[in-house]
Amino acid sequence: MICVIIKGKGTVHLFPYVITSLFCWYVIISAMQIKIKKIVYPGKSLSQIEGKIIFTDEGLPGESVEVEPVKEKNNFIEGKTVNIISPSAHRIKPRCSHYKICAPYQYMDYDTQIKIKQAQLKEDFFAHQLKTDLPGLIFRPAPNIWNYRNKISFNIMWENNIPYLAYNLPDSPTQFEKIEECFLVPGRINLLLKHMLGLIKDANMEFINKVVIKESSDKKNILLTLYGDQRKELKDFSDSCEKLTTHFPISGIIYICKNQNTSLTLSGNYFIKEFIGKTQFLIGAESFFQTNIEMLKILLEDMTKSILLDKNKIIADLYCGVGTFGILLAKKVSKVIGVESSKENISFLKKNIELNNITNFHIRKGDCRKLIESVLKTSPDVLIFNPPRKGLDKTICDHILMKPPRAIAYISCNPATLTRDLKILLSVYKLKKIFAYDFFPQTPHMETLVILEK
Ligand SMILES: C[S@@+](CC[C@H](N)C(=O)[O-])C[C@H]1O[C@@H](n2cnc3c(N)ncnc32)[C@H](O)[C@@H]1O
Repeated sequence: MICVIIKGKGTVHLFPYVITSLFCWYVIISAMQIKIKKIVYPGKSLSQIEGKIIFTDEGLPGESVEVEPVKEKNNFIEGKTVNIISPSAHRIKPRCSHYKICAPYQYMDYDTQIKIKQAQLKEDFFAHQLKTDLPGLIFRPAPNIWNYRNKISFNIMWENNIPYLAYNLPDSPTQFEKIEECFLVPGRINLLLKHMLGLIKDANMEFINKVVIKESSDKKNILLTLYGDQRKELKDFSDSCEKLTTHFPISGIIYICKNQNTSLTLSGNYFIKEFIGKTQFLIGAESFFQTNIEMLKILLEDMTKSILLDKNKIIADLYCGVGTFGILLAKKVSKVIGVESSKENISFLKKNIELNNITNFHIRKGDCRKLIESVLKTSPDVLIFNPPRKGLDKTICDHILMKPPRAIAYISCNPATLTRDLKILLSVYKLKKIFAYDFFPQTPHMETLVILEK
């Protein structure tokens, strides 16, 4: 409930407060009509009534929409858009019925998606958080705005002994929505998912609760991973899986039992093979890899042009995964130091180093926060950071300030943690270049590459 604070105001004229309270009550219990001012990261439409901020799940700048309040806090109301009163010229019909769950920008044209992402980066993050203008921001839109993902995962739910694909509703781990088709992955992946559900149903495997599919960009390899909560003998099921391999280029089918920490290869291999140019990468069922290869190639080109490497340089690739950046740059430099904590990623990193005949890549296994000090002692010329959404730890930034290398390339999927970290790093570094990439069309997400120089 909205309460009016009148403490410490001396003589108070109650009339305006009563009116405001009544207005606020009205706002909470009934749907309200609001005009959208802007869309803020990550994808909420914002409006303001009587000084109170209202966030809703859909609405383009300039549109009047009807919103049903869902949650109320001291200084804002969160709502759900139930009706569009005056549609914007940039509004389009979403392709998916479930678009609000995973790809909520589908209701706007692609130019608008790009403009919104660019404005968020410039205004809400760099201008607001860092008080820095970004006149030089280069925003790279995606060549393909549909069917671009090389990995997708779904929950598997059951109803009347029939399995179906489902996503969690946002903010509700116990509620699910059925997914018929996903347009962020190619059509053949949807077809494969349908066949797979049929096999799971025929084998009565109610213990399967998740599926992950990865596909290589040359379309020659598909890795299908099923997750369940029981350790099972799956001989009969793996025989029936062979049927899938006659229709789809499946390189492996894996079953992972998370609570027993076991994995079973039902068919083929535990990994998928990906090529970036001539460089090969083996990627395990649970290894991280970038999900939009076309955009990754564009980012790599910008990065190599921006950090000026040669055979005398040492680079450190922190959060290196299966080696994507370090391996691709290894032949341009004298030495690469790669830091990674996940066991599976390290095992594939080793394979990828060998497969590509790289001899100057040194692996440091463990946590970047603990290893940063020893990495800096090797005097790297350039640090490459590609952390998870939570960004760098403050300890990492503090160590860098004590012994700053010549340059940093920071690749981030979260502008909020990126600008938080830059706030520290910009005390020693200059922002040399900034690029943003639409790795995730139809969603509010973006990837950013920042080049810092001392
Ligand atoms: C966003 S991914 C980037 C991987 C790689 N750069 C790539 O492009 O494929 C982040 C990686 O950091 C690893 N990681 C997460 N926290 C870490 C930590 N504290 N120390 C070292 N590695 C970490 C994850 O296992 C994951 O491989």
